[in-house]
Amino acid sequence: MDFRFLPASRTALAELPVDALIVVVAGEAASQGLDGTLAQLLKDALAQKDFQLKAGRTLYVHRPQGLRAQRLVWAAAADAGPKAFRAAVASAAAVLKNGGAKHVGVVCANAQALTAEHAQALVAAVGEATYVYRATKPSAPPAGPLAKISLVGEKADAKAVQRGLALGQAVAAGVTLARECANRPGNHCTPTFLAEQAQALAKTHGLKVEVLDRKAVEKLGMGAFLAVSRGSEEPLRFIVLRYDGAARTQAPVVLVGKGITFDTGGISIKPAAEMDEMKFDMSGAASVLGTLRAVAELKPKVNVVGVIPACENMPDGRATKPGDVVTSMSGQTIEILNTDAEGRLILCDALTYVERFKPAVVIDVATLTGACVVALGNHRSGLFSADDELAQALLASGEAAQDPCWRLPLDEEYDEALKSNFADMGNVGGRAGGAITAAMFLRKFTGKYRWAHLDIAGSAWKGGAAKGATGRPVPLLTHYVLSQAR
Ligand code: BES
Ligand code: MN
Ligand code: ZN
Repeated sequence: MDFRFLPASRTALAELPVDALIVVVAGEAASQGLDGTLAQLLKDALAQKDFQLKAGRTLYVHRPQGLRAQRLVWAAAADAGPKAFRAAVASAAAVLKNGGAKHVGVVCANAQALTAEHAQALVAAVGEATYVYRATKPSAPPAGPLAKISLVGEKADAKAVQRGLALGQAVAAGVTLARECANRPGNHCTPTFLAEQAQALAKTHGLKVEVLDRKAVEKLGMGAFLAVSRGSEEPLRFIVLRYDGAARTQAPVVLVGKGITFDTGGISIKPAAEMDEMKFDMSGAASVLGTLRAVAELKPKVNVVGVIPACENMPDGRATKPGDVVTSMSGQTIEILNTDAEGRLILCDALTYVERFKPAVVIDVATLTGACVVALGNHRSGLFSADDELAQALLASGEAAQDPCWRLPLDEEYDEALKSNFADMGNVGGRAGGAITAAMFLRKFTGKYRWAHLDIAGSAWKGGAAKGATGRPVPLLTHYVLSQAR
């Protein structure tokens, strides 16, 4: 998709050489600042009750009178800001995506001025509306002929809008990569597949990559990670990707992604209903790949390391049993009371491993707990950090990138739940505050650096008829990494 900024006055809109025009309107008809043909068309559509100025409403007009464009879509927005603009563009793009338009012009009628955030929102909305998963469903109709989008405005800082479009496109490519990985079923997206994706990304985008196998992981003493992978025939992989954008002496931002390519629960097996969705349990890993892709395209002056422990969680004669005690890479012992709390087991060894990078910060990303979905639903990811400054920065990145998160606590008092008579800690803390006790478990492995944890169990994919990966939190993470560039 080709995105560009087209400076044009309102009077020129009727003459715009596009196949379709999307006009996003917010507020009263009179305040839209539209003139001539478009103003009249809007007035008539409203008067005849074919269109209402209520957020989410759209009206498609074929061969609109007096317009050079053969198609016109009105889309109502809640206000003139970028968030409402994104929602309105998404609904308009859904109307157009299976039609014949190749070149679409988009106007935000009453925005005070178009901003870089409007540009990013446009790219995100179009990317989302036109994505089609075909990897294991080649019969799915491919995306339509839509190939070029022009964001039209008269009042805008052209440089900023163009920067917003470029940033939006890099993020969208990262989001798409994450969705492509996470949507693939467990028999396709194996630990080996994830490692191949990392290697391919390194090749195309100039990253460094290293892939460790079971022998190497044994040598490192990752007893917790190994305990999870024991029950699977599928070989584990430990993936390390590096983007070097700044001097070697600059401490890197380290991203750690949970890469459980299928979570059956292990011996503490999950119920059958919706178990298929546990193919998405590598969404954290997918978001690390996606973020590195976006970062590699944008080339900020910052160093980034992506680390992915990847394996399956399966029941088997050799699988870990409830009550088994293992020694993590940190030396701390863990009583595995529930083999379904496996994410924290693979992450804790990765969190010890990354000490070697002397990180500026470490952010882990994981579909870690059903409890986080109970607490926050599917809109906001859970954010945990004992570091107020880091937490504030990530909250702000989430808002700016329209990929929001919400902070949950990490008080010492929650530690009580993880006590064990047979090891330094148990791996579960009971039903109450399950997302918090999971984060408290991880915290025990993060004493040597600034750390935050994102629980994306609710935000990484959608269930139901629109079942599929969202690519979150690639936008949040990319925004944060860029904010750390000097
Ligand atoms: N991958 C799951 C978490 C999950 C469950 C994400 C449902 C999204 C939807 C994780 O490995 C898990 O099974 N967690 C357990 C922890 C419990 C045993 C303490 C959970 O949430 O039930
Ligand atoms: Mn599990
Ligand atoms: Zn899991």
